Amino acid sequence: GLATVAPAAALAGHIWVGSGRGNVGRVRFDRPLAIPPVAEGRRDDAGRLVHELTLRTGTTELLPGRTTDTWGVNGAYLGPTLRMRRGDRVAPLVRNALPQATTLHWHGMELPAAADGGPHHLVPPGGRWQPSWRVDQPAATLWYHPHPHGSTRHHVHRGLAGLLLVDDDRATGLLPERYGVDDVPVILQDRTVREDGGTDTAGIDFAGTDIVGLLGEDVFVNGTWGPVLRVTSERVRLRVLNASNARVYDLALADGRSFHVVASDAGLLPAPVETDHVPLSPGERVELLVTVRPGERLLLLSRPPDLGANVLYDRLAGGDDEFHLLLLAADDRLTPSPPVPAALPAAPPVPTPPPGRPDRHFELGDFTINGRTADLGRIDFAVPLGTTERWRIRNTQGVPHNFHVHNAAFTVGGTVPPELRGRKDTVFVPPGAEVTLLVAFGQHADPARPYMFHCHLLAHEDAGMMGQYVVVPPGTEDQVSPTHPRPH
Ligand code: C2O
Ligand code: CU
Repeated sequence: GLATVAPAAALAGHIWVGSGRGNVGRVRFDRPLAIPPVAEGRRDDAGRLVHELTLRTGTTELLPGRTTDTWGVNGAYLGPTLRMRRGDRVAPLVRNALPQATTLHWHGMELPAAADGGPHHLVPPGGRWQPSWRVDQPAATLWYHPHPHGSTRHHVHRGLAGLLLVDDDRATGLLPERYGVDDVPVILQDRTVREDGGTDTAGIDFAGTDIVGLLGEDVFVNGTWGPVLRVTSERVRLRVLNASNARVYDLALADGRSFHVVASDAGLLPAPVETDHVPLSPGERVELLVTVRPGERLLLLSRPPDLGANVLYDRLAGGDDEFHLLLLAADDRLTPSPPVPAALPAAPPVPTPPPGRPDRHFELGDFTINGRTADLGRIDFAVPLGTTERWRIRNTQGVPHNFHVHNAAFTVGGTVPPELRGRKDTVFVPPGAEVTLLVAFGQHADPARPYMFHCHLLAHEDAGMMGQYVVVPPGTEDQVSPTHPRPH
């Protein structure tokens, strides 16, 4: 990244944060990439698609010969891939077999607030929760993860995360779509595994100069260390999710060749974008089309990310770290793939707000938003159903942040890199930067139940960089109570 040299005194004693400078030269790529299974759904009597999801503890051999305590969904680490089709009525059944209360949030889903799985929907140990909604949004790579306020960083880092793919007839047949073959999940999570297998959570409690929270020394792809993906076709579609607490990646191919970005958080881009690198901050997703040559070995890696010109302690935020991520091993004979489409059936850009709707300003401050710390008993504002809004997000700090909105998709305004031209739900906001978003909200109003907006660097979120809004019938914004019962 663009380094700003930190005073030596500030670095002393904290050099361990991200000091591995990545994993280059430390990993042998010889283990098959684990592919999360697709969860079997069933239809209940009401015709709803039900996925049974049990959150549980387990152990995983993340590094060879070391046993690590992990958490997972229906397994020991991470969770199955859920597939939901646009138009489906769904009713996932969540069981909590963990020793702690938690929640399960459907990141990127537009749905009633009662089904959101945010911090208000705590499921106690031994408890169950079955929200239900109708899926109505474009095809996209979403994900699910816990959201218990104050503990989200621990629960996600232990392994509670999985992909949630929305399928839509309008988007089928254009891109590779054989799951696990040429349409492949790539879930990135970093961690430091000690000699005894224990997880080193240095930085997770985020204090003082641990400016972004936990940065692990190794990156695991779908839980695999040193992963190899056998590629049998000319092109492979990688659905990349950054499920890390704090690490920003900058994805590239080892020989510098270009690839195509075809989708970001909330669905397809208007057209494939050819580039040789793409940044990805926590919570963001990107879909890549990589073209391989017969018989070659091609490494997907993360270059040192550009965390912004104003970043203080670039190194402590991972700005120096380079990681080798995944080896693509192409067969000598490759089956033909569909050509890279010239255009994609993307959702249109979010329309500009009606005249007279004021912009909303969000200042990402000293681990606050607009000077305030998260309070689950406070509603920050109300948005009328059916409108769009312009949100201006400004990072006043020397620390990287990002910004995620529940139940919404946005277009990033201004001159942005082409991979940001699609609809998104999470955006990187480098130190000193301002981003302008045109935000469209889901189709559900409920004055009594809030949605969240927050920084998705999980230590920042847990420390209070989060607020709450409600969607209400138009004209009733003034009747919204500014308070809300807190969960217990
Ligand atoms: Cu990925 Cu509020 O969450
Ligand atoms: Cu932040």
